[in-house]
Amino acid sequence: MKKDFIHISDLSKDEIMETINLALHVKSKFYNREDYLPFKGYTLAMIFAKPSARTRISFETGFSRMGGKAIYLGPDDIGIGKREAVKDIARVISNYNDLIMARLFQHEHLLELAKYASVPVINGLTDFNHPCQIMCDVFTIFENKGHLDNLKIVYVGDGNNIVNSWLIMASILPMHFVCVCPSGYEPDNELMNKVRSSKISTFELSHNPFESVIGADIIYTDVWASMGQKNEAKSRVKTFLKYQVNSDMLSKTNKNTLFMHCLPAERGRETTDNVMESKNSIVFQQAENRMHIQNAIMLKLFNKG
Ligand code: CP
Ligand code: NVA
Repeated sequence: MKKDFIHISDLSKDEIMETINLALHVKSKFYNREDYLPFKGYTLAMIFAKPSARTRISFETGFSRMGGKAIYLGPDDIGIGKREAVKDIARVISNYNDLIMARLFQHEHLLELAKYASVPVINGLTDFNHPCQIMCDVFTIFENKGHLDNLKIVYVGDGNNIVNSWLIMASILPMHFVCVCPSGYEPDNELMNKVRSSKISTFELSHNPFESVIGADIIYTDVWASMGQKNEAKSRVKTFLKYQVNSDMLSKTNKNTLFMHCLPAERGRETTDNVMESKNSIVFQQAENRMHIQNAIMLKLFNKG
């Protein structure tokens, strides 16, 4: 049966750790410029209904550096769910390509795409979640800390698709995960219940950033208004102001806390120039690691890793 990567929970704890180890291995091959071409003769269709820098560049570069060919299909190319039904395009693409990566608005469309495609489908972000990003994040934390055991990870900002994937990760890997957000901007309720009932991690929902960041190993933030909500960006500023990750907040952790952001960042809103450029910021290592972890995920989906 084909494997997809739609939610972090498509992987077991062991598979997550195997994928991280594989990413380390693949990353060193990249650094050594080894002739490593496991995707030779394969094609990847990349469907984007939303904009992207990292996801597009990392998938296209990674897949082609490993011997394959990636095809970019932008918002005006397919018109998925508009010009053509999701279940039709799923079967059409499956007959041309070996793998599909899709960034869509509606999560249901991605589920439908995976259901009707006969080739593996990777989630490149939906309004609901962003599993490639959070796999990349734990990989980056592993590189910096040397382990992933019971770290305190504090997400500060909007309870969005990034947090939803963190909640799924926390239902599998033990950690102390805190989501600090304004009231009314909480992440998915079902996922919060799931992480609580899993008893794998300690989960806290908070509205007090300065209290919650104490002892944080990682502070993570993301934009206050995600793609599809950009018309609310200005009006949200007032609500989110005390959730800005700035030097003052970082100094309150009483720890050598690392700063992470999935990017793109809106400097001056959810975080500042100072924090982005500080020695505690690992955002560019994090961005680079998108490519290495995704290469490992693709190897796994093709049973090559
Ligand atoms: N982090 C991330 O997914 O970036 P893009 O939106 O640029 O792909
Ligand atoms: N929450 C952001 C993540 C971007 C990678 C968005 O969906 O726009």
